[in-house]
Amino acid sequence: MRRLTDTDAAIAYGTNLLRGERVYLREVREADFEALARWWNDPATTVLQQATARPVPEASVTERFRQWTANNTPNDPSFAVARIDDDALIGQAGLIPAPHGRTAEFVIIIGPEHTGNGYGTETCRLMLRFGFAELGLHRIELRVWGYNTRAIAAYQRAGFVEEGRRRDVVFHNGQYGDEVIMGILETEWWIRAEEAATQD
Ligand SMILES: CC(C)(COP(=O)(O)OP(=O)(O)OC[C@H]1O[C@@H](n2cnc3c(N)ncnc32)[C@H](O)[C@@H]1OP(=O)(O)O)[C@@H](O)C(=O)NCCC(=O)NCCS
Repeated sequence: MRRLTDTDAAIAYGTNLLRGERVYLREVREADFEALARWWNDPATTVLQQATARPVPEASVTERFRQWTANNTPNDPSFAVARIDDDALIGQAGLIPAPHGRTAEFVIIIGPEHTGNGYGTETCRLMLRFGFAELGLHRIELRVWGYNTRAIAAYQRAGFVEEGRRRDVVFHNGQYGDEVIMGILETEWWIRAEEAATQD
């Protein structure tokens, strides 16, 4: 079992725990809810992550985000994703614990004006580190619509692998799409983390 050895090692770990190269994770603030609600209700985003494109009143979606992001218990972390350069809010990400323990579901939304810039991949990596190195999870999984090739590419790059498919789960524009189940185990993540550390 790995052990933290001294004060400096602990501080170095803490300093980088929520910080990547271009994005960092922080608590969700009251001022963030307007953008989160707007992104959640945007049909161009909705078709990528929900079963129906059905905007809900801002107060209602704000209340959902307020509950999802409260961080009241240690095992369901949820963060705002902010850009290091200018502190701009660019997304939100969380880990939802499974009832049977040591497994969590990863959820993420990057605002449409910020997608395709590598921020999602970096956020996935930060959340995986948080899940495995901080929470001691054994498994992190996610569900994604099979046609969401941008999301799947980001998840694969961060280390998730496809584990299975539920066929014809989602229906938009008169066409069906599969739901893809992806996952990563702690052993797989630690190997990747140690490889990355030796490359630094
Ligand atoms: C899914 C999401 C988190 C990915 O984050 P992102 O910052 O956009 O992704 P990245 O820029 O880190 O990586 C995107 C990857 O897809 C590729 N890509 C970019 N735009 C693409 C597009 N329009 N179609 C297909 N692939 C695309 C990129 O080349 C990159 O792959 P690579 O690293 O192998 O080159 C983000 O797009 C998002 O939140 N989208 C809106 C909602 C959503 O899809 N949620 C997922 C629910 S499961």
